[in-house]
Amino acid sequence: MDALSLMKHTALALMQGQTRAAADPHRPLWHLAPSVGLLNDPNGFIQHNGVYHLFYQWNPLACDHGRKCWGHWQSRDLLHWQHQPVALLPDACYDSHGCYSGSAVATDGKIMLVYTGNVKFPDGSRTAYQCLAQEDERGEYRKLGPVLPLPDGYSGHVRDPKVWRHEQSWYMVLGARDLQDRGKVLLLRSADLRQWTLLGEIAGAHLNGLGDFGYMWECPDLFRLAGCEVLICCPQGLAAQPERYLNVYQAGYFVGELDYPAARFSHGDFHELDAGFEFYAPQTTLAEDGRRLLVGWMGVPEQDEQLQPTTRYGWLHTMTCLRELTLRDGRLYQQPVAELQQLRGDLTRWQGAADDAPPLALGSAELWLTPHGPFRAGFGDAMQLTWDGERLTLTRTNLRSGAAEHRYWRGDLRELQLLFDRSSVEIFINRGAAVMSSRYFPAAPPDLRLHGAAPLALQYWPLRPCMLE
Ligand code: FRU
Repeated sequence: MDALSLMKHTALALMQGQTRAAADPHRPLWHLAPSVGLLNDPNGFIQHNGVYHLFYQWNPLACDHGRKCWGHWQSRDLLHWQHQPVALLPDACYDSHGCYSGSAVATDGKIMLVYTGNVKFPDGSRTAYQCLAQEDERGEYRKLGPVLPLPDGYSGHVRDPKVWRHEQSWYMVLGARDLQDRGKVLLLRSADLRQWTLLGEIAGAHLNGLGDFGYMWECPDLFRLAGCEVLICCPQGLAAQPERYLNVYQAGYFVGELDYPAARFSHGDFHELDAGFEFYAPQTTLAEDGRRLLVGWMGVPEQDEQLQPTTRYGWLHTMTCLRELTLRDGRLYQQPVAELQQLRGDLTRWQGAADDAPPLALGSAELWLTPHGPFRAGFGDAMQLTWDGERLTLTRTNLRSGAAEHRYWRGDLRELQLLFDRSSVEIFINRGAAVMSSRYFPAAPPDLRLHGAAPLALQYWPLRPCMLE
């Protein structure tokens, strides 16, 4: 489909679909979601001249992974977002099967997008090009074409460039699958964003002391925080363990030290970024005030996506809330950005035995819980959180089988912060030491029901909607 037909059909999809999508009772009130169609990875997250830009993988035509464009929103405050012209359409020979994920940098006063052009062949094989597109005066993006074909020694799965500036050079990490089906992260360097030199593999399966560790690593992100380098990546092909790696694909990080001249990254263990049901392909940026911000996709590829009931309303998936990252004792902490506190309505405080807690409306709300013993919390009919003194268990009904499914966290539970937005809950454990992000689909706007004899303290705010215009 050429660009003009794709735009005509996108206009049609919006004309036919937007009212229906907006009427979905599961539609978020303050999370970013696609107007119609499917959203997946956050892309090109950057703050430039005071304005945040967030691009996203978007198929406007259907709730499937068919035709990946880059949608574009911008915001001055991380709360109110405005739609911008669609940034990238898959209309060139080098990106015909998708303008896949990538990042943004500012150069010469303008935003430059670095993304993967995905090309599939009739025999089922594929190739990938890393490509540039530059912002023009009208806030549109002009493609500058490929700057890097597939490097030797890798399959057609090389993608998701994340680019940053270090000293006098540009650096890029790329996710890759090598010819032995081992997932890798490649490091490249450039003086001008156009000519790239492959410096080597900095992490991956069978590297740096890791054994088998997946066949493909997607969406790498590398940044400096508190004197260390953090590498975020999304390995595919990790075997599930009893209490971790339970999603179809994982998103996690390594903390270490990057020796740029030697292109060596010495790192510690892999930690999952999220212990919930839906979290993938996060991307970070450095805000102008020095905060390292993260946003993720509240979805996982091939994890019963089509069964989510929002597809009946013609839209699928949301972003996570915006989060601030900090590093303490070698571990990443994620907390909702402070800006979100502006959505809070009137505060309710309560304490006593969980069994006596008042029901509280969870459609769009923030809840802090300080438990002093085991408890169980029901979020309407659709989700439950249980603390038994050692393990926190999040439970919902599997959309395919109808059976209960669980996600876990173990530790010393002191405090929970929960953010609810109609069909999502994000649970921040011990001030962001761990997070559980999940979608859920209550049949009616849910109330909180607490059970247990032990005392707990709670704080509760309804959250105001925040418009996407
Ligand atoms: C991750 C991912 C990326 C790819 C994009 C395509 O969800 O598979 O690796 O660039 O989605 O939409």
